[in-house]
Parts: sequence; structure tokens; C-alpha cells
Amino acid sequence: MDIVLKGGTVVTARDSYGADVGIQDGRVAEIGQDLQGRETLDASGKYVLPGAVDPHTHLELEFMDTVSCDDFYTGTVAAAFGGTTTIIDYAEQTKGGTLRQAVETWRSRADSKVAIDYGLHVSITDAREDVLAEMEEMISAGISSFKCYLAYPERLRDDELLRVFSRAKEIGGLVNVHCENGWLVDYMTARLLEEGKTEPRWHPRSRPAAFEAEATQRAVTLASIADAPLHIVHLTCVGALDAARRARDADQPVLVETCPQYLLLDVDRYDEPGFNGAKYVISPPLREAENLEALWRGIAAGDVDSIGTDHCPFNLVGQKDVGRNDFTRIPNGMPGIETRVPLLYHEGVNKGRFSLNRFVELVASNPARIFGLYPQKGTVAVGSDADLVIWDPSKEKPLTVENLHMNVDYSPYEGITVSGYPELVLARGRIIVRDDEFLGQRGGGRFLERKQFSRY
Ligand code: URP
Ligand code: ZN
Repeated sequence: MDIVLKGGTVVTARDSYGADVGIQDGRVAEIGQDLQGRETLDASGKYVLPGAVDPHTHLELEFMDTVSCDDFYTGTVAAAFGGTTTIIDYAEQTKGGTLRQAVETWRSRADSKVAIDYGLHVSITDAREDVLAEMEEMISAGISSFKCYLAYPERLRDDELLRVFSRAKEIGGLVNVHCENGWLVDYMTARLLEEGKTEPRWHPRSRPAAFEAEATQRAVTLASIADAPLHIVHLTCVGALDAARRARDADQPVLVETCPQYLLLDVDRYDEPGFNGAKYVISPPLREAENLEALWRGIAAGDVDSIGTDHCPFNLVGQKDVGRNDFTRIPNGMPGIETRVPLLYHEGVNKGRFSLNRFVELVASNPARIFGLYPQKGTVAVGSDADLVIWDPSKEKPLTVENLHMNVDYSPYEGITVSGYPELVLARGRIIVRDDEFLGQRGGGRFLERKQFSRY
């Protein structure tokens, strides 16, 4: 063996057991007792987890007249510090452009910078006939999931979304949908502005939970008409969860992602003093407290499949502050790529909301399965990539901006100290993080070709 992780407790989505993990040529080569290697890493008293998979990021995204402030280097380094060794970012088609162009643009930004492996989804913003035809080429290029927005001006009409679902069904693709009724958001926003309501606290009032619940039900209905699988991204509220649950009870392939911010932060954040509410201007917005409780219950009940981040950071000073006098100009998005896994461990496992195995399933195994990366990623098994985390369950970390590595000027989790944090992170058998030191390489990650969607 090149490396042996010795004496830890291996944790997967299915089981937990004491074993050594042997790594050869970047893969897990053996799991057993008394393994020997050229280098030994002590994991006693610690967990050996699969590197986590973040299925929802937006690095260096051009959005609302600015660019998200983590690039593919800073963002993936920050991900690694938090125990994430794979991300799937969204390449965005431009109106009039092709999917191929979107992917070329994203790969030209990412390939030379990524510190961990990455895959791409591609967003369809212009569902022309030639673009629907091109979807098959994406599948061949290992981009097996598509995104459609119902929220923003780039949104698709219902008939266009139906055609995307039908095409995805034909070619084995999975459609991710951002479910908010953008027409109603535009109407409500115009009314608020007319009334002079311009502060960040009006952002959630411009896009209430009912607009998300309605759009979620619509996406579920269209997917069912096309008999196609649906992945609902960043689900936030009871009404949307109910729509997904009803479909799942009827055996419709509907998958649900939520994000830590929708579990841990509520609508009161928009009332923070001064312009601080802008930190939380994201879409969908933070919700009333009863939704947070419903999401935790949904996770425990198995109604939620995965936790992504929707990492899309903008600095408060110099980016978000363009909207000081008009909340509609505040770039929507917040940081999270580094804090997802520790927050879920702390709030989920430490607080007894779910098991250690369910935690691994939510942050690693299920995102890998849903997006065609399993078992290369998302588990600890012989033959899997040696993307591994030695997790110290007693390591404490205050999630202050100074303690984190994301290239953004605030932490939404300031004031929270988590227990449980990565001690060592390996990507394809190389140590890339040791405590507070990054030991990986710019461009050390690879582009991942993902398999077609299959129900799991
Ligand atoms: O506020 C958000 N979510 N910004 C990122 C873009 C998106 O809608 O996912
Ligand atoms: Zn997103």
C-alpha cells in the first residue's frame, strides 16, 4: 500500500466498523486489519468518512451584473477544508448560445484551477429545438443533469419545461428545477417597490413560500406527464415538501435537495441591523421557523435525499451593497461550500436528529448516486477513489470569517461553534488538507464524466 489509514472507524451510509484502509494508486485497495503501507496515518479515535460530494455550487458565476467571488481555486480549496472532495457546478447556457459553449466556458475556467474533482450540470435557459437535440451530446460528455429555472428572467415556460423533461426521459438525463414562480415574484416585487419598500427585509416578502410550493407542484406535474425523473434543488418550505412527498408516495421519481441555510437560519435574519440582512439575500429566501422544523423532520423521515450548498458568495462590501437602496439589486447568493459538512454533523449527528450513517448518506453517498458518480465517489469501498476524510468528532471550530477559507467577507454562521471537523483530507490518495494547512495543488482536481441517471 502507498498509504494506510490505521485504527479508525470506517463510516459509510450503510455501516460503521473498525478497520484499516489501504490506498494504492489513488484508490482504496484494501479494507481490513493490520494493513501495512509505506506511509501510515493514525486514525485511532477518529472516523474515516468518504470525501463529501457537494452537488450544487456556483463558482465564478456571472450573475446580476457581478461575479460570485469564489473562483474554482479558492472555492475548491475551501470545500476541501470542510471535508468536501467533489463538487458539481452549474454551467449556464446564455440566451442564443449552445450547451456546448456553456460547458466549454466552464471547463476553461475550472480545469486549470480546481483543487478537487468536479463535474458539471448544464442549465438550459433557451430551450430551442437545436438545444433539445444537443442534450444527448451532453450525456455523452458526462454531463447527465440539466437545470431549469422557474424563478428568474431566464426561466422557461411550462411547455418548454415539459419538452426538456420529455427529452431527458428519452436520453437518461435528470432535470434539476429551481422552483419559484418568477411571474408572481416579479409582480410582488413591483408592488413592494411602488410602496417604497426597498430594504433587504422585503426580499423574502417578494417571494413567499406559496410561490415556491406552487412552482414545485407544477414541476412535479410536468415531470409526471413526461414520466421523467425530477430533482428539486434547494427546497425550503412545507408546501414544497408536501408536493414532493405526495409524488414520492405515488412512486414518482422525485428527488429532494435542501441546504444548511434553510435548516439553520430563518427569516428573522433579514431584520439584522443596518444593511446586514443583505447577507441572506438568496433565492429561495430564508423561511419562517416552522419550515425549518419541517425540513429537519423530512430529513429524518427520508423525504429529503441530499444536502447541497448552493454556494454562490458575494461580498457584502463591493457586491451586495449595490442594493443598499433597492433590495432587487442585491446579488442573490451566499457562501456555504466549506461549512456544509461540519454544520450537518454538528446539528444533525451531535444533536441526535439523525445517525452518523444518514449523515454520510446526505452529504456524500446520495449526491454521488443521484448524479452518476457512485461508487467512484461517495463511499469507502475497495475500488473507490481514495477521497477520504479523517474526521475528528471532538475538534471544535467557531465558524467565524477569520477561521474559514472562502473568499468572501462574511460568514453567515458567525457565533456558531461546531464540534466535529476534518483533521485530514485525501483526494485520490493525496493529502490535500492537514488541519489548517492546504497541501493540494491548483489544477490538481479532474473533470468527472458522470453516468446517466438511474433510480436507486
Ligand atoms: O440565491 C441563489 N440561490 N443564488 C444562486 C443562483 C441560484 O438560483 O441557484
Ligand atoms: Zn443554485
